[in-house]
Amino acid sequence: MQRTLSIIKPDAVRAGHLGEIIATFEKNLIRIVAMKMVHLSQREAEGFYAVHRQRPFFGELTAFMCEGPIVVMVLEGQEVIAKNRELMGATNPAQAAEGTLRKRFATSIQNNAVHGSDAPETAAFEIGYFFNALEIAG
Ligand code: CMP
Repeated sequence: MQRTLSIIKPDAVRAGHLGEIIATFEKNLIRIVAMKMVHLSQREAEGFYAVHRQRPFFGELTAFMCEGPIVVMVLEGQEVIAKNRELMGATNPAQAAEGTLRKRFATSIQNNAVHGSDAPETAAFEIGYFFNALEIAG
């Protein structure tokens, strides 16, 4: 059994896609074992995306992540890291497969509706960034 962190980003929350995104996880038999809505500060967004600090888009990305509330979730299931990434589709919605969350809801490579951890090590860091053990109802 594996866990991953999922984020519904400010663009998708603002556009009213929470229900459809959460329903997509449930329909695909992914268990949601923790969930909350938070509004990140610039500093908190920078801490979360610290691995991208050197990227040219870091400033814009972190500002975007603070534009409004986000919904963070811990997802659980067999191979859930890969399964979630498959459901999300490519980072750039122009390259995302038909039916994926980013194809359906993203509007640009930055405003791409959802985030998902890309490996077990990043999942551990990202889950711990938002949730303590008592907040995960596994
Ligand atoms: P995410 O999966 O959350 O991981 C890093 C984020 O940086 C990514 O989704 C996008 O929101 C953003 N991103 C990645 N590449 C670019 C880019 N070339 N220009 C702007 N934003 C990007």
